[in-house]
Amino acid sequence: MIPWQLIFTFACTKHCDLRTRSIMPEKKIIITIDGWSSCGKSTLAKQMAAKLKYTYIDSGAMYRAITLYFLRNHVDWTDARKVNRALKEINIEFSHNESTKASEIILNEENVEYLIRDLVVAEKVSEVAAIKEVREFAVKHQQEMGSKKAIVMDGRDIGTVVFPNAELKIFMTADKAIRVARRFRELYDKNPNVSLEEVKNNLEMRDYIDSHREISPLRKASDAIVLDNSNLTEQEQFQLAMKWANERIKP
Ligand code: DC
Repeated sequence: MIPWQLIFTFACTKHCDLRTRSIMPEKKIIITIDGWSSCGKSTLAKQMAAKLKYTYIDSGAMYRAITLYFLRNHVDWTDARKVNRALKEINIEFSHNESTKASEIILNEENVEYLIRDLVVAEKVSEVAAIKEVREFAVKHQQEMGSKKAIVMDGRDIGTVVFPNAELKIFMTADKAIRVARRFRELYDKNPNVSLEEVKNNLEMRDYIDSHREISPLRKASDAIVLDNSNLTEQEQFQLAMKWANERIKP
C-alpha cells in the first residue's frame, strides 16, 4: 500500500470509530456482586450504582426484612403453610433517600433499613433465607427489579440463580479476621455493648449456613471475577470494578 492510501485508511478508521462511539448509546447491563458476609459488597455496589446512575438493590435486606416480619409476628417458619400465609402479607419496596444517596428498604410501608441491621435479625436471617418459599418469593421480586437492566445487585446467589446471564459478575472475598473487624466496627458504632466474639460467631455461622444450604447456596458463578479486597483500599477496589464494568458497557 502506498503512503497516502495508508493515511486515508487510518483517518477513516479513526473517524468512523469516533462517530460510532458518539452515536451508539452506552449498553445498560446487570452487575451482580456475590460473596461472603462483610466483604464490603454493598459498599462497592452502592459506589458503582452511583457512578453509573444505576439502581442499587441490596438483596440481603429483603431476607432481613422478611426475618424481621417473621420475628415480630411470631411466624413459625418451620411450617411451610404458615410461611406462605405470612409471605402474602409482606410487601417489600425500595425507596431512594436523597440525603444519603442510598436506597432504603420499606416493609409494608415502614422504613426498616436501620432495624434490619440489628444482631437479633442477623442471628436468624440465614435460617430464614434457607427456606424454599422465602427464596422463591425474594428471587421473583429481584428478577422483576432487574428486568430493565441498569442495576447493581449484591447478595449470595445473584450471579448464579437470580441473573445467570448478567454481563458482569463479581465474587468478593477477604480474610476472615478482616471481615470480622469490619463488621465489629460497623455494629459497635450503633451498639457499644456488642463483643468481638459475638460478631465472629455470627459471621462464621452465617458463612456456614449460607454456603451449605440445599437451595441456592453461596457459590462463585463459573464466569464470575474474584475480587479479594483483603489488601485493597476502597478506592482501588472501586477503580478495578469500574474498569470491568466499562469494558462491558462502552460501545
Ligand atoms: O448481605 P447480608 O449480610 O445483609 O445478608 C443477610 C443474609 O441473607 C445472609 O446471611 C444470607 C442471606 N442472603 C441470601 O441468602 N441470598 C442473598 N441473595 C442475599 C442474602
